Amino acid sequence: MKIAITGASGFIGEALVRRLQATGHTVLRIGRAQNGARRPDIAWDAVTTLDAASLEGVDAVVHLAGESIAQRWSGAAKRAIRDSRVQGTTLLARTLAGLARTPSVLVSMSAIGIYGDRGDEVIDESSALGKGFLADIGRAWESSCDPARAAGIRVVHPRVGIVLSPVGGALAKMLPIFSLGAGGKIGRGRQWMSWISLTDTLRALEFVLSTPSLVGAVNLTAPNPVTNAEFTEVLGRALHRPTFAPVPEFAIELLYGEMGRATVIEGQRVVPKKLLDAGFRFDHDDLAAALRAEGIA
Ligand SMILES: NC(=O)c1ccc[n+]([C@@H]2O[C@H](COP(=O)([O-])OP(=O)(O)OC[C@H]3O[C@@H](n4cnc5c(N)ncnc54)[C@H](OP(=O)(O)O)[C@@H]3O)[C@@H](O)[C@H]2O)c1
Repeated sequence: MKIAITGASGFIGEALVRRLQATGHTVLRIGRAQNGARRPDIAWDAVTTLDAASLEGVDAVVHLAGESIAQRWSGAAKRAIRDSRVQGTTLLARTLAGLARTPSVLVSMSAIGIYGDRGDEVIDESSALGKGFLADIGRAWESSCDPARAAGIRVVHPRVGIVLSPVGGALAKMLPIFSLGAGGKIGRGRQWMSWISLTDTLRALEFVLSTPSLVGAVNLTAPNPVTNAEFTEVLGRALHRPTFAPVPEFAIELLYGEMGRATVIEGQRVVPKKLLDAGFRFDHDDLAAALRAEGIA
C-alpha cells in the first residue's frame, strides 16, 4: 500500500515508518515544515495548509500528529494539545474527503484517556466515555474525523494505552528513576495501567490497516492490564532494583500538576475486545515478557 503518515517523526511514527517500509509498503511522511532535521515528504502546518494533490493515489493514512501530552498543562499547553488535534485532524479529514480517489482507510490516533478515571471497572470499546481534560480531548479528536467518515472512508480510532519501549514514551521517563532504585508505587498503587509493547502497537496498527471489518474505536492495549503496584514490582524485578519507597500523590501533583494526576494517579483497566474478536494475537500479553522483549532485563 501507499501509506501517508502524520507525526512520522515522533516516537511511534519513526518506528512505524521503519516497520511499514520493511514490509514492502511505500510511506509518505506528512510533517511540519519547520521540523529541521529530516524534511517531510509532504509539508503541512497542521492547521490550514495541506496540499491535496500530494495525497492523490494514497491507499491509507495514519494520523499520529499532536502536541505532546507529557508536559505541565498550562493554559497555553492545553490549548496546543487540543488545537493541534482538533484543527490538524479536521484539516486532514476534510482534505481526504475532497480527493478524487479517497483512501480506503484513515487510522486516526486516540488514547485510553478518553475513558477517564475508572477505578476497577473493566473497559472495552462499548464502555461509556469518561470525564476530564483527556476524555474531552479524545471525544473532540475522534469526532474531528467526521468529514472523512461522511465521505465513506473507513475510519479507525486506535485508543492506545501506555506504549512500552526504552526509547520513548512513559517507560523511557521511568527507567532512569527505577534504575537508581528510587522507583516506587504511586500512592496506594491501586490505579490500573493499561500498557502495550511498542512491537504490539506497530503490529496492531498494521492489523487495523488491513482488516476492513474494524471500524471506529479499537482499544490498543495488552489483554492483561496491571495495577500500578504490580507494574512497579515487575519493572523493579526486571531491573534488579528495589521499589520499596512509595511516591506520595502530592509529590506527583507538585512536580507535574494536573497532567500528573490524569496520567499517573488516575487510571483505567482497558481490554482489547475488538482486536481479540477480530483474531489479533498479541506477541506480548504478559508484562514481564514484554519488558524483556523490549530489552529491559
Ligand atoms: N506514546 C504513547 O504511549 C501514546 C499513547 C496513547 C496515544 N498516543 C498518541 O499517539 C500519537 C503519537 O504518539 P508519540 O508518542 O509518537 O508522540 P510524539 O513522539 O510526541 O510525536 C508526535 C508527532 O506529532 C507532531 N507534532 C508535535 N507537536 C505538534 C503540534 N503542536 N502540531 C502538529 N503536530 C505536532 C510531530 O511531528 P512533526 O514535527 O513531524 O510534524 C511529532 O513528531 C500522539 O497523538 C499521542 O498523543 C501516544
